[in-house]
Order: sequence, then structure tokens, then C-alpha cells
Amino acid sequence: MPSNPLYITTPIYYVNDRPHIGHCYTTLVGDVAARMARLIGRDTFFLTGTDEHAEKVVASAAQRGLTPIQWADQNAAEFRAAFKAMNFSNDDFVRTTEDRHITRASAYIEKLVKTGDIALGDYEGWWDASQEEYLTETVAKDNDFKSPVTKKPLERRTEKNYFFDLPKYEERLKRAIETDEIRVLPEARKNEVLGRIKTGLQRVPVSRAIKPGDADWGIKMPGDPNHRVYVWIEALCNYLTVVDTPERRKYWPRGTGKPNTGEPLVTAPIVHFMAKDILWFHAVIWPAMLMALGEPVPKTVYAHAYFVSEGVKMSKSLGNFIEIDQLRAYADRYSLDAVRWYLATQGPLGATDADFAYGRFVEIYNADLANGIGNCASRVANMIEKYFGGEVPAPIEKPSGVDDNTWGHNFTLPGVAPSSAAGIAEWFEKGQYAKTLAVGPVIVQAVDNLVSELRPFSLAKAAPGEDVAIPGLYGVKNRELLRTILYHCAEAIRIASLALYPAMPEKMAALWKLWNCSPLTNPDDCNSPFKAPLAELAQWAHPTYGLKPGQKIAKGDALFMRADPKEPMPTKA
Ligand code: MSP
Repeated sequence: MPSNPLYITTPIYYVNDRPHIGHCYTTLVGDVAARMARLIGRDTFFLTGTDEHAEKVVASAAQRGLTPIQWADQNAAEFRAAFKAMNFSNDDFVRTTEDRHITRASAYIEKLVKTGDIALGDYEGWWDASQEEYLTETVAKDNDFKSPVTKKPLERRTEKNYFFDLPKYEERLKRAIETDEIRVLPEARKNEVLGRIKTGLQRVPVSRAIKPGDADWGIKMPGDPNHRVYVWIEALCNYLTVVDTPERRKYWPRGTGKPNTGEPLVTAPIVHFMAKDILWFHAVIWPAMLMALGEPVPKTVYAHAYFVSEGVKMSKSLGNFIEIDQLRAYADRYSLDAVRWYLATQGPLGATDADFAYGRFVEIYNADLANGIGNCASRVANMIEKYFGGEVPAPIEKPSGVDDNTWGHNFTLPGVAPSSAAGIAEWFEKGQYAKTLAVGPVIVQAVDNLVSELRPFSLAKAAPGEDVAIPGLYGVKNRELLRTILYHCAEAIRIASLALYPAMPEKMAALWKLWNCSPLTNPDDCNSPFKAPLAELAQWAHPTYGLKPGQKIAKGDALFMRADPKEPMPTKA
């Protein structure tokens, strides 16, 4: 049974937008991480959802002659459908208009009012209506009093507001991030956040006064019906509201309820994923709120960079967002897992932006998938079918006449494959996700190398009982070497497929079925749990999970057909 709970979250997306590549990308990163964690054997809970109480929801609903909740229902359903189409394995989908969220978020805010962390005060500042946030004087000035994101003019607003006393937590936060008690990743982002903390923290407005005629949309400020909780503050609470139940509290162990500012800081095994745009909220404001609530703070806050489209920044005005329909068109032609693979491995996981470009897609598809795992698996299965009637051949052990070095030089896979797979758990814990994704292709490459060096197809043509004509391998018969090479290749591909599973669950489940080696409890359901953790599954020739000599494997259809770069770009139907 999985143990060692882990909680993975994505931002909850504004319900006003249509799902696009940006939303899909972060959620894919969360999904790949969640699948990897489950594969490693961690008891994982993965959450995504929609953020619905923004002011702009009211306006857009009205434009369409709908009530805010009708509009939100419609768009939340679009997000759910998009995420289902992407085969995301989220354990829950939260909508901030749900009672479970509203009641608990209100209780957290109420508690912070009682502790004095939230109090009424005056506020005047630059309001970015398009992003629903106040900007500091410096940021407003630097951006010519326009929204840095949408370029719309900022409004000067004065309000009586409730404020959260962020400065009170400044020292503890700074230390937490500096010492990686809270890990802000990638490293470049950590330095940015620390740099900004050092310029001094300000109180954070957590409410808006309700004006006559305002729609009844959003959570009321507990104890003050004239105010509503600012959307960002209640939205952040979603991460806790969803697991604040007796069964789920294991994912966010209960704190003492007293300010969590001690040494060492109490952290919970949580990874919050998002893009750089909203890192500040997640790395600073949210942990401070948790400290004030006396709850553990997240261990990891991971902010990736942005996807751009064909080299151009995506924006509403350019209308060049790659929407879910566009991704579906790619999936229809190349398979969903190919899209997942491209996004996961070519996406902006680090600190620099990445491009979604058709030409690059085809290049990566052919290199990693059609000519990579796809070709490697079908080539090996093909030879097993042709030379051994589709039964996995038995390898031989190193014969006494062959020295260790020569044998070891040729047969590296029993060492390379399991040890690369073992790296996955280690890199995963460190938040080095790109490295975990590189494991599959590295093993596949090693298999290809073995095939090109020892040329099994030539051995198959040679007299089976005669010694091989390969220097150093004295006394090994042609047929014995052929059996050994093909066993090694197939077993290494099995291990590679485990590493490739988190990004390509459907394709790997299909391969496992063909090869009769599914590690899933239900081989027909790529989302079913694993029978054992990776450390066991990835053992070379594992007695239960490894490929067994004599077992049948089928070649089946190619996992990925080669793509023709001259074909026009897929477009939505
Ligand atoms: N509702 C807030 C988040 C509240 S979380 C408590 C919000 N929503 S959003 O719909 O604007 O989503 C922003 C997030 O979408 C980014 O942080 C990122 O995860 C994803 N992306 C949006 N555009 C993106 C790209 N162009 N590239 C990659 N990810 C992007 O902010």
C-alpha cells in the first residue's frame, strides 16, 4: 500500500477564460508529477480546479445575459472536459463557488480576524482591474500606470479595507526561503522572491467594500456584511479547504493553531505548481497566511516560465492562444500522449520561456517517439517474433571464458536501466523534474546502441551453434548471444517504459498489454494503481514484474507512426 503522503496542486484557473495551453501545461506538469509520485509509491493527492469569484466573471456573465453562476458553471465544465481530454489524473476538482470551499475559507479568514492578523484600515493604491490586484507605486510607475500584463490603464482606488499583516511574517518568511525550509524552485525564482522580500513587505488588502448595485458574488467578510473577501485571498485557501476533512488531513497534517513561526518551521509535503506570474502569492502571501493560521507551510513552491506560440507571446489582443481544441487537433493526428510528451519535455519547466511550434513538435515527435521508444520497442518485439516465435528468449550469464570487462562493456543494460530508474525518485524529491523525464530516452538510447553494436539481425543469420565472430566474446555461440541481446533489450525497454509512463500513460499501458508485463492493477486502465513501487518494478529481471523467458510478447501496431514534416499544421475542426 502506498504510504508517505504527498499533495500536488495547480493554480485554480479563472473561470472566465477558455482552457488554453497555459492551463493545460501547468496541469500536465502536476499530472506527470502526481503519476510519478504514485509510481514511486507515494500516497498522492492531486488537485486542480477553478477560481470563480473574480469581479470580471460578473461582467462577462452580464454581457452574455447570464447570471454569474450560470457562466461559471458553463466554463468550469469546459475546464473539466479539457482536463479529462488531456487524461489528467486529478483526485478532485475544486470550484470556489462550492460550499465546502466557502465555509472553510470563511472560517480561516474569521480566525485571522480574531488573532488580529487581519484588521480594518485605509487603503489607497493602483488597482489593476484586469488582473484584480493592487500594484505598488514603483511597479505602477515602471509600467507607465498600465497593467504590466494586459497593458490596460490602472485605476487609482481608495478604500477602507481589511488588511493582512504580512510584514509581521517578513523575517520568518525570508529565513524559510533562504534556508529552503520552503523550497522556491527553480533557483532563479527563489532569488527573485528573496530580492523582493528584501525591499520590504506591505500589508495585503483582503477585502473590498461592497458598493450599492454590486452583484452578490464572492465570499462575505466574516463579521462585516459591508465587505467581501478579495478573490485572491479566498482563492489561495482552496488548497487547504479541499483537504481539510478527517480523511484527507493526512495530506496537510494539522498544525498547532498557534502562529507557525518557530524553529524549525513546520512544513507539509506539498508541491504547489504555477507559472512565474503568480509566484508571489504562493511563495509569500499564502505561506504567511498559513503561519498566522498555525498550519504547516508548503515544502515546495514551483514556478515554471511561459509557453509562447510560434515564437510570439500569447495574448487576448493577438488572439493567438493555443486553445484546447488546437491541442486536440494535434492529439487526433499524433496521439494524446505525443502532445503530453511534447508539452512535458519541451515546455517552460525551468526559468526560460518555451515555444509551442509545429516544426519543433514534428522534430521531437519523430526523434523521441516514432524513431525513439516506438521504433525501439517494435524492432525488438519484431526480432523476438521472428527469431523466437514471439517468446521472450532466455539470456545467458557471462561464460567463464569471457572477462568481466568485455562482458560488462557490452551488457551495460542490467546496470544502466535500473540505476537510471532509481534516479527518478531522487530527482523527484529534489524537484528536478526535467531530469526524471530524461530517464526513458536515455535507456532507449542505450538499447539502440546495443543493437547497433552487436547486430542481432546478423547473428540470426549465422550458424546458431557456432562461436560468435566478435572479439572478446570467446566461446559464446551465435544463438546464445542473440538470446541474451534480445532479452536485455526487451527488459530494458520494459524499465524505460516505467520511466515514460508519467508523461505517456496510455501508450505505455498499451505496450505493457502487448508485452504481457503490465505493472498496473488493471492492465486495461492506464489510470489504475501500480502493483508495486518503482524500486521493485524497475529491478532487472524481477521474479514477478520482470520479463520471463518463454513469456509471449506481441509486436502489435507501431506505438507512434512517423510524422511527415511536409504535412500542414493540424488545425481545429
Ligand atoms: N486564478 C488565479 C490563480 C489562483 S491560485 C490560488 C489565476 N488564474 S489564471 O487562469 O490566470 O491562471 C494562471 C496560471 O495559468 C499560470 O500561473 C500558469 O499556471 C497558467 N498559465 C497561463 N498562461 C500560461 C502560459 N502562457 N504558459 C504557461 N502557463 C501559463 O492566476
